[in-house]
Formats: sequence, structure tokens, C-alpha cells
Amino acid sequence: MNTTNPTSPRDGRVRVDGDLQTVPTAGFSGVPNAHPAPENGGAGFHSVVSYIRRSPRMNGSQQASWERNAPRYIVTGLPRATTASQFTTQPPLDLVALFGRDAPLVVEIGVGAGETLTAGATAWPECDFIGFEVYEKVLGSTMSKLAKAELNNVRLIAGDAVSGLEHLLPPESIRELWTFFPDPWQKKRHHKRRLVGPAFAELVLSRLAPGGLWRLATDWDDYATHIHEVLDGHPKLVSVPGARFAVRPMTRFEARGVAAGRTITDFTYRKVADV
Ligand SMILES: C[S@@+](CC[C@H](N)C(=O)[O-])C[C@H]1O[C@@H](n2cnc3c(N)ncnc32)[C@H](O)[C@@H]1O
Repeated sequence: MNTTNPTSPRDGRVRVDGDLQTVPTAGFSGVPNAHPAPENGGAGFHSVVSYIRRSPRMNGSQQASWERNAPRYIVTGLPRATTASQFTTQPPLDLVALFGRDAPLVVEIGVGAGETLTAGATAWPECDFIGFEVYEKVLGSTMSKLAKAELNNVRLIAGDAVSGLEHLLPPESIRELWTFFPDPWQKKRHHKRRLVGPAFAELVLSRLAPGGLWRLATDWDDYATHIHEVLDGHPKLVSVPGARFAVRPMTRFEARGVAAGRTITDFTYRKVADV
């Protein structure tokens, strides 16, 4: 249940399950955001809302990067729900038209400042990459990195990856899905906001190609335990043992976890081919 009280207090914050959160009054992209936050996924494949919409104010370099690089990297013209981060039912993206070629697709959810996406797209030029990020402010930073690396095999979708997977990506279209350091939602009453759960796993499986990989990492032990519980026994997933994914760089979020003494857990699962 959405327990937001948008009327209190008066400083622009709203109360979400008892906590004060800052939310924007309008999306940076100019999409009207009549409903401040949090957004409710409503009916659909999976209704988890794993994020809070935050201030869209960019700093000067993020703003300049957005203006310079958005035409190259940001996917536009996507019909949105009234909750502007979410996508509505529409024909899936034409990936060949989007990238100008037919190549294996890697999708990252929650790209943050783009360190991993940039490293991945640089390491694997034979693949195309789509990065979802709901926090538009950081996409300016992400695009600076992509442009500096002169990458043409990346597109960014500013919005919710859950409704994006459901409505924008064709079934079995993803070769690899990356979910690194999803927001931990540490308080017990917020665990329902965690991205990874049984219903989200079904959505991911529907979009992963047979034999495709789902890579994850977290620095929170109880989230790691939860991921193991949800995914280890799944009949359509096989856990792939191995060390840390070599392409994955140390991001700010991982560094923060390490500095706080937390253990980093990496996961790789393969979708079984014969389902
Ligand atoms: C803790 S940060 C990790 C960023 C990055 N993956 C890293 O390792 O540095 C999680 C990011 O996921 C984004 N996010 C959370 N839920 C999302 C969703 N449903 N769709 C798109 N982005 C989401 C947040 O805005 C945030 O930038």
C-alpha cells in the first residue's frame, strides 16, 4: 500500500512508510509529474517500485553533458504512465533500428554514474548495451563517460527498468542482465521495495534469451541471502560458480560498502536453454 502523505511536511519532502524522502515536482525531461512519489507500479507483470524519485537538479557539468549527449544516447518518444518514470503498454523497441545492427544485447538496471556500463561497452564492442536509470541527474555523468570513451553501442532509458523490461524489450531478447548494487532498502518494512524478488525473477526470465546470464552483486549480507533464497532453487536458473565478474569495475557504491567493512557478494545465473 502506498503510505505517502504528499501534504506534509512543507519542505518538499514526503513521508514514505514513516521516513521523509525528497521528491521532485517535475521530471527533468519535462514529462509532467503530477503524482510526486513514490510511484505505484499498479497492475502488470510486477509492481515493485524499487526507487524514490529524487531531485532532478543537475549540476552544471551534468546539465551540459545532458544537452550535448542526450541526442546520441537517450532513447526518446517512449509512452509513459502518469507516473512519469514508468512505461505503458506499447510495441517493444526495434533493437536493430535502435542500434543500426543486430548484436547480442546486454541490459544494466540502475546504471548510477555509468562506471560499469562504460567499462562493459568498452570491453565488449561486439555487444549492444541498454542502461536503465530512474535518477535522471546521474545520467548526465554517465553520458560524459560514454562520450569520452566514444561509445556508440550504448543507449540509455531514463525511467523504471521494471516497466521497461515488461513493455520495451521483446521476450528472450537479452543476452545478459546486470543488476549491480541494487538499492538495499535496509529497513524491514522497506524490504518489499527490493528489486530482486520472485515476481521480478519471472519477468527477467521472460526477457532473458535461453542460455542468457543474470549477473548481480550486493554489499548487504541479508540482501545476498534473499537473492540466494529467491534464485538458487529456481528451476529455470542454474547458478554459475566463479570469481568476481572481471568486467565489473569498483564503483562508488561498492567502494562505500568496502569502506564500511561489508562483504561483496557476486552472483551469476544462467537461464536454462530448454524451457
Ligand atoms: C545503489 S545504486 C547502484 C548504481 C550502480 N549499479 C553501481 O553499482 O554503482 C542503485 C541505482 O539503481 C537505480 N534504480 C533503482 N531502482 C530502479 C529501477 N526500477 N529502474 C531503474 N533504475 C533504478 C537508482 O536510482 C540508483 O542509481
